[in-house]
Amino acid sequence: MLKNKVLKILLSNKEHVSGQAISDNLGVSRTAVWKAISSLKKDGYNIESVNNRGYLLLEKTDILNQVEIEQNIHSYKLLEPPVIIYMDEVDSTNTYAKSIADNLNKDFLVVSDMQTFGKGRLGRIWSSPSSTGIFMSLCIKPDIAIEKSSMITLVMALSLCDAIEELYSLHPTIKWPNDIVINSKKISGILTEMSSDMDGIKYIISGVGINVNNKEFPADIKDMASSLFLETDIIMHRAKLIASVISHFYNNFNIFLKTEDMTGLKEKYEKHLANIGKEVKILDPKGEYQAVALGIDENGALIVNSAGKIKRIISGEVSVRGLYGYV
Ligand code: BTN
Repeated sequence: MLKNKVLKILLSNKEHVSGQAISDNLGVSRTAVWKAISSLKKDGYNIESVNNRGYLLLEKTDILNQVEIEQNIHSYKLLEPPVIIYMDEVDSTNTYAKSIADNLNKDFLVVSDMQTFGKGRLGRIWSSPSSTGIFMSLCIKPDIAIEKSSMITLVMALSLCDAIEELYSLHPTIKWPNDIVINSKKISGILTEMSSDMDGIKYIISGVGINVNNKEFPADIKDMASSLFLETDIIMHRAKLIASVISHFYNNFNIFLKTEDMTGLKEKYEKHLANIGKEVKILDPKGEYQAVALGIDENGALIVNSAGKIKRIISGEVSVRGLYGYV
């Protein structure tokens, strides 16, 4: 699409660039360039047009599209960046990623501005309004044993913390295994889904929802949920945050792949662990009990001390005193 090509040129120029230079570069007429610029302005881009100098993209605006995501990810110079698939609207990025996962051999990242049926863990709905949050699903096809796949959630949680620290100077915490929590409120969640056959893992999809620029939340979740904007007053360019998460993910994932477990990431993960040293309520299907969280082991299990007995929690719900209203 011509509009995307023009946007790429504007994004990579810090000085005015003339309509003639753009039309020569792309081999199209000046009128076609002018139409593309008008359409970008309609999308919300603030483009200055100065006689005899040309066009300049003014301040960064939080507009999410294919070009913004690709340009930001490419700035991290990853060895093998995922293929980007952007859509303005989809039912769920996880569902869409699953529908195409068998046909694509490379890693890919599905991103949407909004979801009409965002899925949370345990069959919950993930609120996914347009123009505010990040809804994305990264599909990878690692050659690891099936039982290792659940650790991808922990690797992603850590990468979310790394990215939030990099861009906001905050210290996000993780409610094991996968909720990102700031000031006792949930900012982000991860839904990891896996498909396997007799030969092993076919693909793993790590779906991430981040409350970025939300100014308010529906009544039923407003006491437990917050956004990065509400915690910092910073309006973030979502494509920048997506790129940072993806870049940190591949760094952390490469460390994970060396041992195929959390050995190399355990220390960093525990620094973010909201549960550590705290009383937690283990919501075991056989019955709830209280314990104190000690940390994680190299397989990503939560280690707790329950009345003097050390236990490994491998999945399910763990509620932490002081978070989301559990007191
Ligand atoms: C949770 O319950 O904490 C997990 C929420 C995961 C939501 C994300 S949004 C992008 C991806 N697509 C979905 O339908 N769900 C995940």
